[in-house]
Order: sequence, then structure tokens, then C-alpha cells
Amino acid sequence: MPMSSDSTARAETVISRCQTLARFSEDVGSTRRTFLSPPMRDCHREIATWLSPLAVSVTIDAAGNLRGLYPANHPNAPRLLIGSHLDTVPNAGAYDGILGVVLAIALLETLEGRRLPFGIEVIGFSEEEGVRFGVPFIGSRALVGRLDHELLSRRDVHGVSIREAIQNFGLNADQVPAATLKDDVLGYVEFHIEQGPVLGNLGRSLGVVEAIAGQSRVELSFAGSANHAGTTPMHLRRDALAAAAEWIIDVERAALSISDLVATVGFVGAKPGAVNVIAGEALATLDVRHGSDNVRTEALSDLIARAEQIAKRRGLSVKTNALLSQRAVAMDTFLADRIEDAIRKAGCEPHRMVSGAGHDAMIVAEKVPAAMIFLRTPGGISHDPAESVLIEDVAKAIDCGVHLLAQLASSQETLGRMCRA
Ligand code: HGY
Ligand code: MN
Ligand code: MN
Repeated sequence: MPMSSDSTARAETVISRCQTLARFSEDVGSTRRTFLSPPMRDCHREIATWLSPLAVSVTIDAAGNLRGLYPANHPNAPRLLIGSHLDTVPNAGAYDGILGVVLAIALLETLEGRRLPFGIEVIGFSEEEGVRFGVPFIGSRALVGRLDHELLSRRDVHGVSIREAIQNFGLNADQVPAATLKDDVLGYVEFHIEQGPVLGNLGRSLGVVEAIAGQSRVELSFAGSANHAGTTPMHLRRDALAAAAEWIIDVERAALSISDLVATVGFVGAKPGAVNVIAGEALATLDVRHGSDNVRTEALSDLIARAEQIAKRRGLSVKTNALLSQRAVAMDTFLADRIEDAIRKAGCEPHRMVSGAGHDAMIVAEKVPAAMIFLRTPGGISHDPAESVLIEDVAKAIDCGVHLLAQLASSQETLGRMCRA
């Protein structure tokens, strides 16, 4: 089905807006925007200029989430949440998270002032990646009432706590409970790039997410003995970095033997970190994911046991610090079915799939029906400046969103069903 010129124009605007937001960064020449960093304020300001012509006023809740409500056609109506996250990884692309917020705004623009039987709240989450504080989903946890004292006390590498970061941004951390979703929410829909090769390999534009894989994140600290690189014979060493290196290869070998499991050591640090000193300490992070929580947790225990065995054999010790244990989450089947219908109405063949990447939808799903629509990621490249989207896929995503809103608005049964959710 050819794209309408209107959808193409809207898609061009979406892509250009994502690229505008990508320029708001903590780094020169690349995109990095972490929890309540100064460029996040620029992001909020720019998005507010896109929402104000729609008579949508933007507020920033106490967890730093951007919130903007497009009212319904009658007071006290329920609301549908549409959004994603505004933070990024270091050296990020322009679409991970951000596309979901910008597409939400594009959908409001397609309404051209028409009101629906439900309001639409655009949400830009403050931190999904977990870069600054090592734990993800800070913004969406606030919406489900899980941004608690313990998490607020967590500190970044500069010793600044989440609570202090909130205060430094000019917000009031005591108001975090007010960010919790009320019981007037019909559901949550998140458009997001797939960040993988599946839709591209199938030649599909859009996917329906059926579930989001669970993930565990752990940091491990190998402790040995720093010593002189020139005078210490090999058999007398307790080299923490060599132990970590042996374990990293073991992690890869173990993960290759378990189907659909992914295990990643994304960061390694050595102390004291000098060319002529044997590392006395090595820090490594581990990210383990699988669609089944049992497979994931068993694999995690096995990988930690392997670290302990390697350390023991080498006369070292190893400590672990669990950063995240996020169960796999199924998306709302009713909403997923409506999305599949809407994708077909947009002239696409939908593909149902599991998401290997984590998303705010897995947190919001704790409180309201949640669903996701994936857009093809050319080359499957993400978390990198080469991340991209195809304009025709963005146009189809807009068409799909228009059909989805029309479906949800047209059927009282739908609204009734969702209100009972
Ligand atoms: O790491 C992830 O799964 C996502 O990109 N936050
Ligand atoms: Mn990401
Ligand atoms: Mn993301």
C-alpha cells in the first residue's frame, strides 16, 4: 500500500525531530544524555515547543519524566499513555527511546484537534538505560511506585545520589510518590526500534512485541595482588585482570551452549591500571538475558560459580553485586491483538516477536496493560550512531498508530475492556 504524502511528510518531521534531540548531549560530537543531565532540560524544552501548538502543556514529574496530557472529549475520561525514554547510552544513535516519544507527538498531530473518548498522555521517561546509576528504569519505576528510598540513595561515580540529582535539576524528590499512575489509565503503548536484525531479515516494517526478555545485571570484583610487572615471576602472580579475562571467555563459551541465552561482559576495569603493574583488582559487569526466567537465573548462578572457581584456582577472591534482576514480562494480549489489526490496516504484514532489549513497557506493565510496536532497525544496529530507521517504516508506524487510536476510540467494548484492566 503506497504511503500517503501526509504520512511521508509527518515521517520526515519525526526523523528530523529525533535528530534535533540527538544533538542535546553531554559530549561534543556524540550523543550521551543520562538521568537529569543538563541536555535533558534542552530536550524537555524542545519537546514542549512541539506540544504547545496542540494545547498540551508539559510538566516534569519529580522523577524527571516529561508528561503532557492531550485531553479527551469529555471530563474525567481515562487516558492512554504513549511514550518511551529520553535518556541514551553513550555514543548513542538518534532513535532508541526518543522515537517513541516523537511518534506519540506525531499521532497527536494527526488528530488535528479532534478529541477522543480518552485522553492521550505523552511520556518521556527520564532514565531507562541505567547508565548514570547502574540501574535502569528509574523514570518508569516512579510511575509504578517503585522509586523507593533505597533506590533514591544510590550514587553515581561522582557520589551524587538520585535524590540529589533530582534536587539539582530543580525538582523535589519528596514529590516522587505523586508521579505514580492513578487508576484512570487505560494502557500504555510504546513505539520503539527493534534494535536487532529480525524484522530486517524478514523484510517487515513493523512488529508486535509479545513479551520482553528478563534480564540480570551483576558487577563482579576480582581481588588479587598488585605487583611489579618486571620482577614478579608468572607462577607467583595473583593477577586479577588475567582471572577476569579467563572468566569472560568462559562466559561466552557457556552462553553459546544455551539456546536463546545472551550473556555480555560490557565493561572491564583494572586497578591500579598501569602498564607496568599487575592488576590487583578487576571489575567486570555481566548482563544475562533470556525469555525464560528459570533459564536466565540458572545461567546466572552458573556463570558466577565459574568466576568463583577461576578465582579460587588462581588464589584470588571474587565478590558480586547484583544490580538488576528483571523478570520476563508478557505484553497485554488484548492490546497486542489490536496492534496487529492496526498494522494490517496500515498495509503491513505484522510479525509477533519477543524483545531481547529491555523497555519501560516491562515496568509500566506492572500497573497497566502495556504493549509495544517495533520498527525495523536497518542492519540491526543500535546503541551506536549508525542506528537508523527507514522513512517508509516511520510513515507506516504513524498509519498504524492512527488505526490503533481509531480502533480503541470506536469500540465501547474496547474501552470497557481496557477500563476493567
Ligand atoms: O539494555 C537494554 O535492554 C535497553 O537498551 N535498555
Ligand atoms: Mn537502549
Ligand atoms: Mn530503548
